[in-house]
Amino acid sequence: MVRETRISADTLIYPMFVQEGEHIREEIPSMPGQYRWSLDCVDELLQQIVDSGVKSVLLFGIPAQKDEIGSSAWQPDGIVQQAVRHIKSRFPQLYVITDVCMCEYTSHGHCGILCGHDVDNDKTLEVLAKTALSHVQAGADMVAPSDMMDGRVGRIRQVLDENGFVNTPIMAYSVKYASAFYGPFRDAAGSAPAFGDRKSYQMDPHNAREALLEAELDVQEGADILMVKPGMAYLDVLKSLKEQFRQPVALYSVSGEYAMIQAAAAAGYIDREAVICESAVCMYRAGADLLITYFAMELAKYIREGRIG
Ligand code: PBG
Repeated sequence: MVRETRISADTLIYPMFVQEGEHIREEIPSMPGQYRWSLDCVDELLQQIVDSGVKSVLLFGIPAQKDEIGSSAWQPDGIVQQAVRHIKSRFPQLYVITDVCMCEYTSHGHCGILCGHDVDNDKTLEVLAKTALSHVQAGADMVAPSDMMDGRVGRIRQVLDENGFVNTPIMAYSVKYASAFYGPFRDAAGSAPAFGDRKSYQMDPHNAREALLEAELDVQEGADILMVKPGMAYLDVLKSLKEQFRQPVALYSVSGEYAMIQAAAAAGYIDREAVICESAVCMYRAGADLLITYFAMELAKYIREGRIG
């Protein structure tokens, strides 16, 4: 009766990987229980999502071809664009959010267009905006830029508006740290940088005040939802964003967090379900309005069963 934190499955977002090709239902080795899906197989997963009570998905694409500039990211028949159309025709009740970034599409694995060994921020804005527009034209309900270039929210907003998509919201990865917790995701998407790291565009884990600056810029540029990423180790940052801003705040509990729980549970070191429940509760308690997590379907079940929430 006196619980301070209430959780609804409506606020869970399930991240999923779609891959170009056929007959692909491939478990990701460092993320046991998570798969890469080709579109001819993915209905099995989509049905599970719908049955679980989770209402929103965050799409990541793995293209057949990568090149220097990531041109498969914005093709009308690219993997994410096809996946959006597929989901909207088969499971129209699902709310489809697309991750907008170049790293899954570039041969070098960086999140933008290179100039020498550095990412050229302003050139990258154009390809990000083109990519976001192509997702929305395919039917995406919301776009989530995760590249961390300066000015991308404003540029995407402008291009969506110019094309009539004035009501399509942007969930900005506003505060995205240069984190080792993304390791398993990069295995899944084949997107580890071929050289260097992402420290020139993602944030330094030592900094928290800078997170407020990143969020403030995104708000000025038109972000509708602010995201903090990773989750577990960054709840102080989430809390301060929640206090400072009026926009809804999302938290992304990332691949490395998922992998650690799965591995420790497989070794018999922790009570898996209890740890999944407790960590999600704490993320909401710290201020998450929305939670993006690979455990979304399971959490929906625990909420339904009254274990949490
Ligand atoms: C793309 C992107 C990444 C993640 C989400 N979008 C990887 C990265 O920035 O290297 C990580 C998600 C996860 O680890 O679960 N830039």
